[in-house]
Amino acid sequence: MLIEKDKSLQQYNTFGIDVKSKLFAAFQTIEDLQQLLSNDTVIKEKKLILGGGSNMLLTANYDGIVLKNELYGIELIHEDQDYFYVKSGAGEDWHEFVLYCIEQGWAGLENLSLIPGCVGASPMQNIGAYGVEIKDRFEYLEALNMGTLEVEAFEKEDCEFGYRESVFKHALKEEYVITSVVFRLFKKPQINTSYGAINEELQKMNVSDPSIKNVSDAVIAIRTSKLPNPKELGNSGSFFKNPVITNEQFLKIKFEYPEIAAYPVGESYTKLAAGWLIDNAGWKGYTKGNYGVHKNQALVLVNYGGATGEEIYNLSSEIMLSVKNKYGIELEREVNVI
Ligand code: FAD
Ligand code: EPU
Repeated sequence: MLIEKDKSLQQYNTFGIDVKSKLFAAFQTIEDLQQLLSNDTVIKEKKLILGGGSNMLLTANYDGIVLKNELYGIELIHEDQDYFYVKSGAGEDWHEFVLYCIEQGWAGLENLSLIPGCVGASPMQNIGAYGVEIKDRFEYLEALNMGTLEVEAFEKEDCEFGYRESVFKHALKEEYVITSVVFRLFKKPQINTSYGAINEELQKMNVSDPSIKNVSDAVIAIRTSKLPNPKELGNSGSFFKNPVITNEQFLKIKFEYPEIAAYPVGESYTKLAAGWLIDNAGWKGYTKGNYGVHKNQALVLVNYGGATGEEIYNLSSEIMLSVKNKYGIELEREVNVI
């Protein structure tokens, strides 16, 4: 199997950060991966599993081996009266997978259209958008244990999904390679336009009785208008999570900032829009050298070309400090800092 040396990662991360990996290999089958992980050279190296590189900030050359996931294949493995059970290889492109499901009439992922990256990374942070998270459509996943080289199944409860969270970011961090994910998709579409902007967009499209394809088109239109395309401008989507605070804390902040953007979470908590906090602290459009804060969406940090990961990381620390000083709120990075 080909193991490349000093491989540039610039085209493998959507921030477009120009760093190198000491070693790099791609795997197309589970056997390839097992063979790689048993290789004498690879065993002693640090390992980074790479999907689409759309949720990582590379702050230095990687002193280890990058393992690029190229496990492909989409399969309808089972169906019952209400659901299709669809298995996807972890290396499939997420958005292409969503479009394929829509074409087949497998409903439930349409609100998650146009999220960059691969299927295998989708459970890592329980990707979510426009009122849906993958935990809502998740059946089970398979992952290879990097210690034993055995493939194990993880049911939904095992994954400990939360808002942009899973067990794979915490207790099992860097222990498993997710090899496939099975989704439970509706036979009878459950159209979800609870996120107000979708309805507005459908109205603009003159659609009153939307299909799953219409919902996907509306989400694509909204996302295209709001978020920079990583092919044109280096970024990793939302750099921070939206902070969740108690209702008591929220009332105090709202008293001072009545126009703050926030949403209830259950009965006792409130989620604040980090984009609003950062914007209102004066950071939107901030530019320093080759990097900065996006001009339309303050939650997105951008690389105009040639910035280092360290520069972007330092900017994120400055923003965190500024938000902490202004509102007393601790932001948490959503992007994986490597
Ligand atoms: P990578 O960046 O390659 O990897 C992310 C992390 O997962 C790394 O730690 C990596 O080591 C690990 N990993 C990747 N694959 C595997 C695997 N098979 N097994 C084990 N570990 C693995 N996210 C949302 O939730 N909602 C959004 O609306 C959203 N919008 C975005 C918009 C833009 C413009 C961008 C650039 C990003 C956005 N994101 C969003 C973030 C990103 O798209 C998702 O987190 C996506 O799932 C990352 O997939 P990836 O394949 O690129 O992961
Ligand atoms: N806002 C501002 N100024 C800004 C940006 C946003 O005031 O510069 C306000 C908006 O006006 C709005 C609120 O903040 O009232 C929320 O903004 P938006 O609807 O754009 O959503 P978001 O909270 O910024 C979240 C997710 C996105 C996801 C969208 C849609 C997080 C961290 N981000 O963004 O996910 O696509 O909702 O569901 O939860 C990602 O994770 O990378 C990502 C893009």
